Amino acid sequence: MKQELLKSADASGSVTHKVLVVGLGGQTRKDHIPALMRRKDVKIIGIVDTNQALLDEYHLLIGVPVFTSLVDAIQTGMPDLAIVSVPHFEYSGILRTLAAHKIATLKEKPLAMTYQEAIEIINMYQDSDTYLQICVQRRFSKLYDTTKKLLDSIGRVYSVYVEYTMKLSAEDMASGWRADKKISGGGAALDMGYHSIDLLTYIFGTPDKVYAQLNYHSLDSNYTIDDTMKAMMTYRDGRINANLVVTKIFNQKNEKVRIFGSDGSIYVDERKVTLYDKDGVEMESHSFNFKTEEVDQQLSYFIEKSKKNRFDSRDRNLKDQLNNMLVIDSIYKSHDISQVIKLG
Ligand SMILES: NC(=O)c1ccc[n+]([C@@H]2O[C@H](COP(=O)([O-])OP(=O)(O)OC[C@H]3O[C@@H](n4cnc5c(N)ncnc54)[C@H](O)[C@@H]3O)[C@@H](O)[C@H]2O)c1
Repeated sequence: MKQELLKSADASGSVTHKVLVVGLGGQTRKDHIPALMRRKDVKIIGIVDTNQALLDEYHLLIGVPVFTSLVDAIQTGMPDLAIVSVPHFEYSGILRTLAAHKIATLKEKPLAMTYQEAIEIINMYQDSDTYLQICVQRRFSKLYDTTKKLLDSIGRVYSVYVEYTMKLSAEDMASGWRADKKISGGGAALDMGYHSIDLLTYIFGTPDKVYAQLNYHSLDSNYTIDDTMKAMMTYRDGRINANLVVTKIFNQKNEKVRIFGSDGSIYVDERKVTLYDKDGVEMESHSFNFKTEEVDQQLSYFIEKSKKNRFDSRDRNLKDQLNNMLVIDSIYKSHDISQVIKLG
């Protein structure tokens, strides 16, 4: 009933969803605001950020009301949806307020900084029976949808290799909230690796075993996060072994996946997926160049699911996100105690 009251209708009678944007950083400006502006059924009723200068600049640019207080924004604009994209340590308080007001939430990855915090966040939304979704846009891409479908062509999968690299300088590594593990929660494994781990969860489920080693001080620079993570994992009762290499300080930006099966292999390189037969002969190849499509699909899914605005305890996506946090906690633990962690 409340949701119905909060939604407004335009002259043609179609529903306009009232969205509050929280956090006006790089990710919001690059992906979320453009995706919102591409839709006709959405109205941004306010933007919240702690940086007044940034808010003023954006207010001039797109003419949307801006706020430094989340509660003021909620009381003024009465949103029914929120998109939240802030530094990792800032989420908890913001999500508590949104859940208390029963505002359906699209939260940027990661689900949380730790598995324990992930449980607390899920409980907030479960207690208020409000919809929560985490941004993992690769799940909405044709690239990985095609990759998943091609698995039927390579027989019994036995080995996987995933590599995700960036080329950050010593200066980049030391700048901003990401440099400090206490407020970012982690670097290569949590911040970057979240996407790769989610991809493995999406395709193969949760690993049974994890062994990982991290590098913290590869560069002589002022940061406390892991700059590089290497993990070896097994899936499906040990039948599949996977290597995951994630680093912020490689010599180039790069994203690749290799999946080997008894009848062939699948290679993903950036935006291209290729199927090879067991002799290494290329069978088919597909390129998907439009990243905006997956951000749009993710937003459409969120808006559709928010119509009921209920917490769904059987939601596959959210369960997977919780599993991702279990894997990430295990990666840090495995490094700390130099042991294999069993998850099964
Ligand atoms: N899905 C992806 O591919 C992807 C890519 C990049 C970042 N991210 C995620 O997006 C989130 C934000 O990352 P970013 O790179 O945009 O960071 P950023 O530092 O560029 O932006 C963060 C913004 O939040 C604002 N902020 C800080 N505290 C706030 C508060 N209490 N209330 C409101 N605003 C506040 C800051 O002023 C800043 O404008 C992170 O969770 C990150 O992991 C996801």
